[in-house]
Amino acid sequence: MMNMELSDKSCADDAAQQEETRIREAYARRQSVSPAGLYSCFNLGNLFMLQERERGVLSILAQAGWSSLHGAQILDVGCGNGLWIRDLIRWGADPSSITGVDLLESRVANARSLIPAEVTVQCGNATVLEVPDESFDLIVQSTVFTSILNEGVRRQLAREMLRVLKPTGLILWYDFHVNNPRNPDVRGVSRREIQGLFKGCDIELRRMTLAPPITRLVAPVSWWACQFFSLIPFLCTHYLGTIRKPLRHE
Ligand SMILES: C[S@@+](CC[C@H](N)C(=O)[O-])C[C@H]1O[C@@H](n2cnc3c(N)ncnc32)[C@H](O)[C@@H]1O
Repeated sequence: MMNMELSDKSCADDAAQQEETRIREAYARRQSVSPAGLYSCFNLGNLFMLQERERGVLSILAQAGWSSLHGAQILDVGCGNGLWIRDLIRWGADPSSITGVDLLESRVANARSLIPAEVTVQCGNATVLEVPDESFDLIVQSTVFTSILNEGVRRQLAREMLRVLKPTGLILWYDFHVNNPRNPDVRGVSRREIQGLFKGCDIELRRMTLAPPITRLVAPVSWWACQFFSLIPFLCTHYLGTIRKPLRHE
């Protein structure tokens, strides 16, 4: 029995290692082919998506009882260049209460150069966090699960996030549910898959973000048209929402 458990663990470690290598290669490839300024805020489509997301996130946090993130212990898994960390600080989070983790050294270095030194930014795999159980009030996951193609690794990450989430804590989920035909290195995460990853949890999701290629075309012509089209769930590619642990009955 013990041997079987050990061999399951070593298979999981191998899968995580292989997936890590694949992600590194995918990001290196993508960096060389992405047009400069694709994600710039000077692109009105990107600005539209960021502002809409910010309104959505703040409304979710307000519904969860937060009027400031002051005092909250926060983890950003797959923090990339620290975009969310800068937002979290604008929303009142204490820099010294924020931890960001990302696989890629270049992104971690970028994040460190853009955010206050009090923020802890670790370079590593978020499937194995060196953090005690039940440490965080808020965990942000934004477009990280879609970067992971291996289902077992997705499950490991979900398990690890639940391990370090406080019983009263909240996971903030923002990720796409459709596949991107132009990028085979990512795969959408459906509502059903999210429910499977976070079994037994209380999950609330809503569709948002008008398909980015459409938004980038339409926003420079008509902001209003973008607002209108983003009300049509069928045209929206992402889920924004929350995941809570089931209530404990003691
Ligand atoms: C599309 S980027 C999103 C970055 C950031 N969350 C944002 O929304 O701006 C996905 C990030 O997840 C990171 N990532 C993917 N798998 C990871 C893992 N297992 N552990 C830590 N970071 C991971 C990648 O290195 C990449 O920086």
